[in-house]
Amino acid sequence: MKILKVKTDTRISEILIGESIDNVQKYLNNRKTIIITDSNLIGHYKQRFPANAPIIEIGLGEKSKTIQTLETIFDKLIEYEADRSTFILAIGGGIVCDVAGFAASVFMRGMPFGFVSGTLLSQVDASVGGKNGVNFRGFKNMLGVFNQPNFVICDTQMLSTLEPREFRSGFAEIIKAGAIKNPSLFEFCEQNAKKALALNAEVLDKMVYDSVEVKAKVVEADEREKGERRLLNFGHTFAHAIEKLTGILHGEAVSIGMVLAARVSENLGMLSSDDSQRITKVLEDYMLPTRPNTDVVELFDAMKQDKKREGSEIHLVLLEDIGKAVTRKIKYTELEKIVHDLRSDFR
Ligand SMILES: NC(=O)c1ccc[n+]([C@@H]2O[C@H](COP(=O)([O-])OP(=O)(O)OC[C@H]3O[C@@H](n4cnc5c(N)ncnc54)[C@H](O)[C@@H]3O)[C@@H](O)[C@H]2O)c1
Ligand SMILES: [Zn+2]
Repeated sequence: MKILKVKTDTRISEILIGESIDNVQKYLNNRKTIIITDSNLIGHYKQRFPANAPIIEIGLGEKSKTIQTLETIFDKLIEYEADRSTFILAIGGGIVCDVAGFAASVFMRGMPFGFVSGTLLSQVDASVGGKNGVNFRGFKNMLGVFNQPNFVICDTQMLSTLEPREFRSGFAEIIKAGAIKNPSLFEFCEQNAKKALALNAEVLDKMVYDSVEVKAKVVEADEREKGERRLLNFGHTFAHAIEKLTGILHGEAVSIGMVLAARVSENLGMLSSDDSQRITKVLEDYMLPTRPNTDVVELFDAMKQDKKREGSEIHLVLLEDIGKAVTRKIKYTELEKIVHDLRSDFR
């Protein structure tokens, strides 16, 4: 097991990589604990939850990430006589952790909380950075706060019970971390696809650790997303549009988005064609999609609606090298021309 400490203004959060769900009791310090989780986690892991802690079950999917779910949680917290010293333990993927983190942050002005992170995406991404919240009127993550959990357990053996597609999609964020900040992680991903997909514990623990480290460093430098943290959005401007248009999984959309961002970087003379091809190849090795499943021009139009739009220009995260991302402002007209040029490659 390896521990990574994330320090921010609000607190020090411990990310425990390779720790087992069976040891969670150790981190609760005998505090009164209430668990927030969903039916999949209850189905697979209930016997391994800390004994005697009441369980609040929330619904599955984005549609459960709502104020209504928060109300149900608050009702239960009152019923279980929770107070400011009660510990909230979220056991699940990004949705359970985002909702539980928000509930814990506002109930009685804030209670301590921790996560047992169940998906690869939540281990490498959702559990670090202190963002939590819910959707509102169809807008994603519209309500929320920045607040770090006391600890996050990343038990990579729990990934064996994930749907295979759900599992694979998490590798997109790991490859992203390598591509923006850590070339040796990127190479490790290139060399270990088979082992990682076969759930080799050593390989997965290293990949999760290195990705969390990339995110932690960026977050420590920029907790409230003013500058450096933007780099984490590599591939995401395209991905958000793809998700909206086609409804594929976040990691799958990020995979396609990274290929597009690499091709744009190549087109602007920033990235070599060899490196751009390495991005596509490694994503294919993890069985992730690398071609837009919608027309790229339609995609460009959807992207223009994106919230990051600033006048006639857009901020894009691009690559100068594997392991070196930069933010560039590009005119829509210029990007549109590049996207048109790429169109024939993806037909
Ligand atoms: N806070 C952040 O910084 C941050 C970052 C990235 C994503 N997110 C959020 O995370 C959410 C997506 O998270 P996700 O991809 O983990 O999806 P998810 O939480 O919906 O989990 C995916 C599915 O896997 C199941 N599951 C989880 N762990 C399991 C396990 N070990 N075994 C079997 N089944 C398991 C869940 O029940 C669910 O059905 C989005 O709402 C997104 O906005 C937040
Ligand atoms: Zn993402």
